[in-house]
Amino acid sequence: CGIVAARTAEPVAPILLRALKLLEYRGYDSAGVSIRTSGGDSATTRTIDRVESLQARVGAWSGADLPGTGIGHTRWATHGAVTEQNAHPHQDCSGRLSLVHNGIIENAAALRHELEEKGHVFASEVDSEVIGHLVEEGLRHDDDLARAVTGAVAALEGSWAVVVLDGHTDRLVAAAHRSPLLVARSPRGVFAASDINAIGEWVEHFQAMRDGDVVELAEELVWSRGGLPAEQPPMADSVWTGASIGVDGHPDFMSKEIAEQPDVAARIVDRLAPHVLDGSLWADLALPRFDRVTVIGCGTSLNAGRMIGGALSSLGRVPVRTLVASEAADAVMEPRTLVLALSQSGETADLLNAIERLDLSRSSLVAITNNEHSTLARQADSVLTCDAGPEIGVAATKTFVAQVITGVAAALSALVASERMLRSDAVRHSDELRLMPELLAHAIAVSHEVLPSIVAGVLDEPGFLFLGQGTGVVLAAEGALKLKELSYRWAEHQPAGELKHGPLALVDRGTPVLVIDSGDPRIDRSIAEVDARGGRIVRIGGPGSTVPVVGLGRPAGPMAGARRWGPLEAVVPLQIFARDLALALGRDVDKPRNLAKSVTVE
Ligand code: G6P
Repeated sequence: CGIVAARTAEPVAPILLRALKLLEYRGYDSAGVSIRTSGGDSATTRTIDRVESLQARVGAWSGADLPGTGIGHTRWATHGAVTEQNAHPHQDCSGRLSLVHNGIIENAAALRHELEEKGHVFASEVDSEVIGHLVEEGLRHDDDLARAVTGAVAALEGSWAVVVLDGHTDRLVAAAHRSPLLVARSPRGVFAASDINAIGEWVEHFQAMRDGDVVELAEELVWSRGGLPAEQPPMADSVWTGASIGVDGHPDFMSKEIAEQPDVAARIVDRLAPHVLDGSLWADLALPRFDRVTVIGCGTSLNAGRMIGGALSSLGRVPVRTLVASEAADAVMEPRTLVLALSQSGETADLLNAIERLDLSRSSLVAITNNEHSTLARQADSVLTCDAGPEIGVAATKTFVAQVITGVAAALSALVASERMLRSDAVRHSDELRLMPELLAHAIAVSHEVLPSIVAGVLDEPGFLFLGQGTGVVLAAEGALKLKELSYRWAEHQPAGELKHGPLALVDRGTPVLVIDSGDPRIDRSIAEVDARGGRIVRIGGPGSTVPVVGLGRPAGPMAGARRWGPLEAVVPLQIFARDLALALGRDVDKPRNLAKSVTVE
């Protein structure tokens, strides 16, 4: 899931361990490091425990306190169980090589078979191990690590970000193909990492490897492709250098990130709102005219995309289709389609692969991402950066709000620019955007006040239902997703009108039913249906709300008409409800079981 490699003029082990801590947020179930020891060999340790547990073991190695070379990894199991053997770094037969790998080697079984025939003995079940044996095989014929890695990756099918450490020669070589890997050089050393968070403390600039690149991390970075010298990709600034990635007095990152939402919203609104009404926010993206929109993403980003798609269709009558990235392969793309691809990380494999498989030759691709240096951003025709700052909690919170506000601002601007919306309407909606920071702050305060007693009453409930109408359905989906991710309880969302067509059978005395009232009066009928069966209604927004967060206590009327892309602030009580419930059940809200923040495999 996360890779780091370093060659430093200072002790390398503390740097690797610090970087692994900074990669923890991506989610992992095992971790390990290899460093070159003073004896001219490499030492490796792996754990299915936390990164901290590597500390004592590494400290005992000779040379751990010396300048040096090393690699580290956090693994999120896909192929092979969570065991020490399956954790990275992996080694070749001789123990000369260690390697860390992200991605999936699709032809691993065939390669393994061939290598076993040649006498290679495998120590784990994972696909990554074949890379080490392939490199070892190459070194038998030509004792040059860069050429051996080039030869090895030429035999691979699938995706890889890989760094190989040669304990004998102290060489370090990285290769990438359809899996993110950054390299950087600074006075502190040379580095490679899956994302800039991991190494941002030691570098100011970095370069993102392109598919097929092989880079030797020597004193300088030596770039090649297919064995020939390669041109270097552009240098990017490490914008998060020096960012304090701490909880800032909060009990956990999720709490901090929920609390940050009004400031995040204010930052985005201040930057974008002045460019909405003249259409320049959209015009500056320099995209061709579009007739229809396809929204694509996974998880919370998909929900954010649905909110933005809702704004485009309800305000501008734009035909909008939503694709779940992992199911998008066969979608037919019509000409003049604007594809809105959303991803917090910009590295989600399901999304990147969908984009690659779809025929986008007659479409334009806009990325809405929190990572302007990501693979998604590089592939898009234009990028809308969300500017939410690093999000560490696995369950997305502030990036959802940031994506929706960024996307709605861009959508309004596009509708103005293409004369699909009256200017007077645009003024009203852009005024609503400007209110978001205040509305979110109010929602946080109200939620903290009223939710604890509600949560205390539902701790033993096995299942939760979320209902909404219009954009309320999307918010219901996001609320159910947060609850599942964090509390490990079953949660389902439904359009309120569908309740009577099946899900009502789930409702019993005390069943918690969270209803997002986005201003459609028909919601009252569904509430009555639940009430009649003894269900426990938690009403978010609207008259008689249990959680009166929507519209700063203003009557529901104007909201119903004007806020057709919201009420975005209703997501706040859903986030806080899920977190409070999870904490009461003793869960780790920042690192839910089985989940990773950045899923770089399909
Ligand atoms: C993972 C995370 C989710 C996230 C999804 C999409 O599954 O656990 O929280 O919503 O990936 O991630 P992205 O980086 O593409 O927004």
